[in-house]
Amino acid sequence: MKIMLVGNGGREHALAWKLSQSPILREMILAPGSDAMAVYGRCVAVAADDVAGLVQLAALEQPDLVVIGPEVALAAGLVDQLAELEILAFGPSAAAAKLEASKAFTKDFCQRHNIPTARSKTVATDMAAHAYLETLPGPYVLKADGLAAGKGVVITDELAAAKQAASDMLGGQFGAASAKLVIEEFLSGEEASLFVLCDGTSAVPLVGAQDHKRAFDDDQGPNTGGMGCYSPAPVLDALMTAKVMDEIITPTLRGMKQEGAPFVGVLYAGLMIDQTGPKLIEYNVRFGDPEAQVLMRRLQSDLLPVLLACANGSLADVPALHWDERPAACVVMATKGYPGKVEKGSKISGLERAAATSNVEIFHAGTKQDETGQWLANGGRVLNISAMGDDLAEAVNHCYAAVDLIDWPEGFCRRDIGRRALTN
Ligand SMILES: Nc1ncnc2c1ncn2[C@@H]1O[C@H](COP(=O)(O)OP(=O)(O)O)[C@@H](O)[C@H]1O
Ligand SMILES: [Mg+2]
Repeated sequence: MKIMLVGNGGREHALAWKLSQSPILREMILAPGSDAMAVYGRCVAVAADDVAGLVQLAALEQPDLVVIGPEVALAAGLVDQLAELEILAFGPSAAAAKLEASKAFTKDFCQRHNIPTARSKTVATDMAAHAYLETLPGPYVLKADGLAAGKGVVITDELAAAKQAASDMLGGQFGAASAKLVIEEFLSGEEASLFVLCDGTSAVPLVGAQDHKRAFDDDQGPNTGGMGCYSPAPVLDALMTAKVMDEIITPTLRGMKQEGAPFVGVLYAGLMIDQTGPKLIEYNVRFGDPEAQVLMRRLQSDLLPVLLACANGSLADVPALHWDERPAACVVMATKGYPGKVEKGSKISGLERAAATSNVEIFHAGTKQDETGQWLANGGRVLNISAMGDDLAEAVNHCYAAVDLIDWPEGFCRRDIGRRALTN
């Protein structure tokens, strides 16, 4: 098979690494891919959000399957346009991608289909926002309706600050993405993510994962795209996973189909779990980054036929997936200053030595190579150090042993990945 993989981050590096092991893979095209991903196939310089460019490339290359990593092109209708060319894609249509692209849509959808989630109201004016905030006890949770690259949620204890945040967002802080806001009740409990492969009708849950969103140790500092993660998530045991499937995922797939937008691709459910059961925090319509990295480490089955089955509606015929029982962990190394503005181009040495340590795979999230072969940092999140272990502590230790072999003075990472699960 010939596949085209869209994206260039650590998530896509992990997907490429896994897909490259498939005995049925003949050729991989990476759009745009990265210097580190070039070992898996041919990189073509088309940006991951350039829908017209991606469609043109697919029309030219005629891949048997397009696998799409990031969400922007999905929401912009890449899969719909590929379908017009009769090219199969692993990913949702624009209509189904609304589950991520509009939090207001998802809230209404949950209400229509009786899916447990925080009580909320969607507002479009300061007056409505302030009036609803006054009815809530706090902490206050405000969310931009549209895609905001993980920066569109404000949580605050102070009513005045919540009102100010609502006014800022409605005033255009995130452009059209915050023309509407979802204001919702604060949920407490333990947060975890479940990833589910879908073909429009059937669903196959993958294993759970938990991530670390804050930039610094002990969950200090600003929110980021994710500084590390581990799998399994102790809170998502088999029983809880079955409950999430029954109460959240199955009604979602049924509802989307009923509403004429069957969901194909990976449904990533952000969950808050307490004694009353799981509640949906949000949906994403693609793999998490860095969660994909640990899922790919643990998956033993061939990924390619499963993604193909999602795309062509035959997921029910796919044999059960096999997973490595051992936990996996991933530590994200970022350029100092992330998630703020960072300098690109600092030198990273010792990667070969680090990658050679027991059990370690290094996925590149944002690097490039200069003419001499020297690796350089090329963004905020730069490296994903992943490892397996007989237990989570061992997996994490392997990760940090590799981190310590990397010579990159301009980089940093959290030193407490997995600690939450280890101290429970
Ligand atoms: N209702 C809520 N109660 C408590 N925490 C929440 C709630 N909604 C979101 N959060 C926290 O905010 C984070 C970001 O919210 P989320 O809806 O996942 O938006 P996004 O990922 O698009 O920024 C979540 O991972 C969770 O930690
Ligand atoms: Mg989220």
